[in-house]
Amino acid sequence: MPRLDEPRKQTEARRDSSRHIVSKGLFPLQIVRDVRIDLLEARHALDLFKLVDSNRAHLREWLPFVDDYKSVTAASQFIKRNREENSGEKVLVMGIWAGQILAGVVTFDYIDWSNRAALIGFWLGKSFQGRGIMTRSCSALIDLAFNELGLNRVEISCALENRRCRLVAERLGFGQEGISRQREWLYDHFVDTVSYSMLASEWKNRTV
Ligand SMILES: CC(C)(COP(=O)(O)OP(=O)(O)OC[C@H]1O[C@@H](n2cnc3c(N)ncnc32)[C@H](O)[C@@H]1OP(=O)(O)O)[C@@H](O)C(=O)NCCC(=O)NCCS
Repeated sequence: MPRLDEPRKQTEARRDSSRHIVSKGLFPLQIVRDVRIDLLEARHALDLFKLVDSNRAHLREWLPFVDDYKSVTAASQFIKRNREENSGEKVLVMGIWAGQILAGVVTFDYIDWSNRAALIGFWLGKSFQGRGIMTRSCSALIDLAFNELGLNRVEISCALENRRCRLVAERLGFGQEGISRQREWLYDHFVDTVSYSMLASEWKNRTV
């Protein structure tokens, strides 16, 4: 007869085997012939700083961190804090490379192992927009979340007025859930956000 604590044990076993993402050898992920996702490491700090620095106006419209990038130290600290200090257990930061050039960043902003859910965040340098790079990168990360990490739910949160961000979620078939009023502070004003989700069962049965 199954013991009462069996479901919890199974969940914990799954979580323990999934947690150490960085050591699982899942990267790089080849997205298309010349585009790949790989873990961001300390050695990428200069490229990351340069990408932010050359896209300040573009990124500043929707992302809150741009003014903090005063020097390469900010990029180093971001990578160290999020990638190296937790071994990818709760947060995972990855770069998207187009050929040899860092084109953008995609993150699991949190991984909630207890509830098997994760939030994906993303951005691209302006000149890399319009090629389907982010939609396909997110698709690959969702495959990874459901098939390799055993997660059940992936979320994307966009500013309500951020059309390009919302289109990424909608192209992937995410369902819109709700609007959070004045959820995010951007430099000098609040913005409303809209959350989207995809469930493992929906992803498996999707027709697009
Ligand atoms: C959000 C962001 C990553 C979206 O970039 P994007 O280029 O619009 O998205 P994709 O890379 O998926 O490209 C989609 C475009 O490529 C086209 N495309 C070409 N091939 C494609 C393919 N195989 N699959 C999907 N789209 C394709 C689409 O038609 C679309 O074209 P459009 O620009 O004319 O609408 C980008 O605008 C950005 O970084 N913005 C600033 C930061 C930000 O807002 N981040 C999100 C906060 S959560």
